[in-house]
Amino acid sequence: MMDIPEGRLPLHVAIIMDGNGRWAESRGLDRTKGHEQGERALFDVVEGALEAGIRYLSVYAFSTENWARPKEEIDFLMNFNRELIRIRRDDLHERNVRVRRIGRLEPVPADVLEEFAVAEEMTAGNTKMDLLVCFNYGGRSELEDAAAKGPIAEHLYAPDLPDVDLLIRTSGECRLSNFLLWQSAYAELYFTETLWPDFDRLALFEALEDYASRDRRFGGL
Ligand code: FPP
Repeated sequence: MMDIPEGRLPLHVAIIMDGNGRWAESRGLDRTKGHEQGERALFDVVEGALEAGIRYLSVYAFSTENWARPKEEIDFLMNFNRELIRIRRDDLHERNVRVRRIGRLEPVPADVLEEFAVAEEMTAGNTKMDLLVCFNYGGRSELEDAAAKGPIAEHLYAPDLPDVDLLIRTSGECRLSNFLLWQSAYAELYFTETLWPDFDRLALFEALEDYASRDRRFGGL
C-alpha cells in the first residue's frame, strides 16, 4: 500500500487518459472497446483517489480537438459519455463526490449536457472529492473565454479550482495537449507507458508515491 509522508499528497490530480484506441487495436478489437475498458479504469482510479484522500480529480474526457475524429467515433463518444454519467452518478453521489463538467457548451448535444446537468445538480453539495470532467474542454479556449470577460484567474471555468499539483498522462505520449494550461503552470508531470485501460488505482498510488518524492520549488530556491 501507499506510504506517503504527511503533507506530500497532491491536492489536485489531473489525468490525460490516453491510449484507449491503441489498447483495443493491439487486441484486434474495435476502438470503442478501448473506451469501454477505459471507463472501468477511470472508476477504479476514482475509488483509489477517494481512498488516498485526493480532494480534486480532473479528467480529460473529450477535448476541443477531438471533434476532428471520424463522425462515427464522435457519435460513439457522445453516447458513451452521456450513458456513463447517467449510470455512474448515483454511485458517485453515494461516495460524496461532486461532479463538475467544464468546457464549452457548443456543439455538445443537448442530451449529453442534460445528463451532466442532472449529475451536477444531484452532487452539488458533496464534499469529499470534486471530479472535474473536462468535456469539450481546451486550455486555450478556456483562456480566451476568460480573457474576454476580464482578469483570467477570476473567469476560468472553475475559478475555485486549485492549481494542478500532479498531472498524469498515460500511453507514453509526453505532451500537455491543451489540458488545464493555466492551472498546470507548476504541475509535476508524470508520464507512464501504461495504456489508459490498463491503468488502475495501484498505478495511481505509484504516481502519488513518485510525486511525494519530488522537490517542488515554484521558481524559488
Ligand atoms: C483517449 O484515448 C481517451 C478518450 C478520447 C476518452 C476517454 C474517456 C473516458 C475513459 C471516460 C470519460 C469520463 C467521464 C467521467 C465522462 P484515444 O482514443 O486517444 O487512444 P489512442 O491515443 O490510443 O488512439
